[in-house]
Amino acid sequence: HLSQKSDLRARRILTRSTFATKAQTVKKTLQAGAAAGKESFSALQEERREQAERSVLISCPPNINQKKFLDYISKHGHVQNHFFYQSYGIYAVVEFSTKDSITALKANCTIPSVQHEAAVPFKSRLLSLKWTGQGSQSNASNTLKLQKHLPIPINELSQHLSKQESIDQQLQCLTDLYQLTEENISLRFLVCSLLRDIAAAYFPECIIRPFGSTVNSFGKLGCDLDMFLDLDGISGQNQRKGSGLSLEYQVKQGTSERTVTQSVLSVIGECVDQFGPGCVGVQKILNARCPLVRFAHQPSGFQCDLTANNRVAMKSSELLFVYGKLDARVRHLVFAVRCWARVHGITSSIPGAWITNFSLTVLVLFFLQRRTQPLLPTLDQLRDLADPSDQCIIEGNDCTIVSDLSKIKLQKNTDTLEKLLQEFFEFYGNFAFSSTSINIRKGKEQNKPESTPLHIQNPFETGLNISKNVNTTQLERFVALCRESAWLLEQKEVLKRNAGQSADVVPPWGLAALLLPSVAQSAGVKGRRKKKHHPASERIKTLLESLKSSSGGAGAKQSAV
Ligand code: CTP
Ligand code: MG
Repeated sequence: HLSQKSDLRARRILTRSTFATKAQTVKKTLQAGAAAGKESFSALQEERREQAERSVLISCPPNINQKKFLDYISKHGHVQNHFFYQSYGIYAVVEFSTKDSITALKANCTIPSVQHEAAVPFKSRLLSLKWTGQGSQSNASNTLKLQKHLPIPINELSQHLSKQESIDQQLQCLTDLYQLTEENISLRFLVCSLLRDIAAAYFPECIIRPFGSTVNSFGKLGCDLDMFLDLDGISGQNQRKGSGLSLEYQVKQGTSERTVTQSVLSVIGECVDQFGPGCVGVQKILNARCPLVRFAHQPSGFQCDLTANNRVAMKSSELLFVYGKLDARVRHLVFAVRCWARVHGITSSIPGAWITNFSLTVLVLFFLQRRTQPLLPTLDQLRDLADPSDQCIIEGNDCTIVSDLSKIKLQKNTDTLEKLLQEFFEFYGNFAFSSTSINIRKGKEQNKPESTPLHIQNPFETGLNISKNVNTTQLERFVALCRESAWLLEQKEVLKRNAGQSADVVPPWGLAALLLPSVAQSAGVKGRRKKKHHPASERIKTLLESLKSSSGGAGAKQSAV
C-alpha cells in the first residue's frame, strides 16, 4: 500500500511536467532500478548534475505568458523540461537537451548598462528576461503554474493530518506535503552548478556537489543547501611510463589539509561575494571544525553552506539515502520525528546546543535497528555486503557500504507506523543516555567513551560524536517530550479521529495532537524541571477534554503554533 502511494505521487509529479517525455523515461528507469534495488545513489546524483549543467535560471517579467516564453527560449534550442516558481519575482528553470543551446542563448544575452552603478561583467547562467517594447506584452500571467518551494504552515498541516483516517495515513500525508519535490531538487542542483562556474575560474575540473538533506531523501521543503567543493578529480595520477621523464605542476604548499581548505574556501567565498549574481550575506566561517562559506542565494531562496574536502559527509548522506530506500516506513517516521522536534523547539535553525536533524535521523535509524524484528540492518552488515568496487576509504576511515540494494535481505517486520511512533517515544523516553552511546554501525548500545550528555557515534568517523554540541538541558527536554508524547499516544481520545466528524475544522488527533504546544517547551528552564515527570499537565487535560467534547475548540489552538 505504501509503495502504491508513492507510485501515485510519482505519477502526479510527472503529469505536472510540461515536457515530461524525457523525465518520464528517467523516472521509469529509476523506478525500475529501484524495484530491482539497483538504483545507485551516485548514478542518481550524476544524472541530476548533468541535467543541471544543461539548465539556466531565468528571472521573468511578472506578466509573462508561458507560450510566449517557450517560443522565445526554444529559438535557441530544444527545451527538455521547464518549470516556474515564485521567489523574489517569477523565475523559470529551463533544461535544454544539449549544452550547445546554452551557448546559443548566451550569445543573445547582453550585459545590462546600469545607470548609477557599475556592473561586474560576469556571464553566468542566471539571466533576466525583459520586454523590449516590441510586439505585444501578455497579461495572461494567471495561466502560469508556479511550483511551491516552501512547506505549508503548521496550522494548515495540522488540518490536513486531522482529516486522515489513521495515524499511519497521517505520517504518509506529512511526508507527501513536506518532502522535496523533483523540481526543488533540480533547482538545488542548478544552484550548485551555477556556483561551480564561479569556482571553475580557478579550478576548471572542480565539481560542486550537494549533500545532506538535499540528497539523503529526508529533506523538507525550505531546508538549507549543503554543498561541497570537490577538487579530487584534479589530482588524478597520470604517469607516463617509458620516457624516463615526467612533468608535474609546481604547487603552493599549505601546512595542513585544513589550511589548504581554508585558503581555497576563502578565495572562492570572496568570488561568490564579489561576482556571484544573487549571492548575498556572504560569511566566511573558516575557523569552524568544518570550515565553510555561508550565504543566501536570493533567486532560489536557499540558505547555502559551501564546504570543501568533505567526502565523509557525502558518504553519510548516501548511507541515510540507502536506509531511506530500504523500507518506506523509515522516511515516514523520520519526517514525523523531525517535524515533531521542530515544532517543540528540540531542533532549531540557529546553531547551538540543540539536537540537529542529522542526530535525530540517526536516533530513528538506531531505534529501527533495535526492534525485536530489526527493521533495518546495521552499518557493519551493509559494509559486509559490499562488492570490491564499493570499497571506499576516506582519510583512513572505512566508508564502504553496499551500493546494490537488492543484496540486502530485510527481516519480516510488520509494525504499523502508529506502533513505531509510539515505541520510538517510549524507547527514548527511557533510554540510558547517561551511560550509553548510540551506535548504528553495530546496531547496539555501547559504553560511552566520553562524558558528553548525548553520545551518538559518527557512522564513519567512529572517534567522533555527532551530537557533541548537545547540553544536558536540551537532552532533558527531548526526553521529557518523548515521555509526554508516549503518554499522549496511549490515550484513546488522541488515538482515534472522532467518529462522525465531518466539519471542515477537525480537532487535532493522532500526530496532529502531538504537534500541539508542549508543557516542556512553554514552562521554560525553571518550571520544566519540576513538571517533566507530570505529563498529565493542564495542557493535556484541556486537550483531552476538547477531544472528548468534539467541539472543535482545540483546532483553533493549533493555529497558534
Ligand atoms: N554532518 C556530519 N556530522 C555532524 C553534522 C553534520 O557528518 N555533526 C553531515 C551529515 O552528512 C549531514 C550533513 O553534514 O547530513 C549536513 O548537515 P546539516 O545541514 O546539519 O543536516 P541535514 O541532514 O542537511 O539536515 P537539515 O535539513 O537540518 O539541513
Ligand atoms: Mg542541511
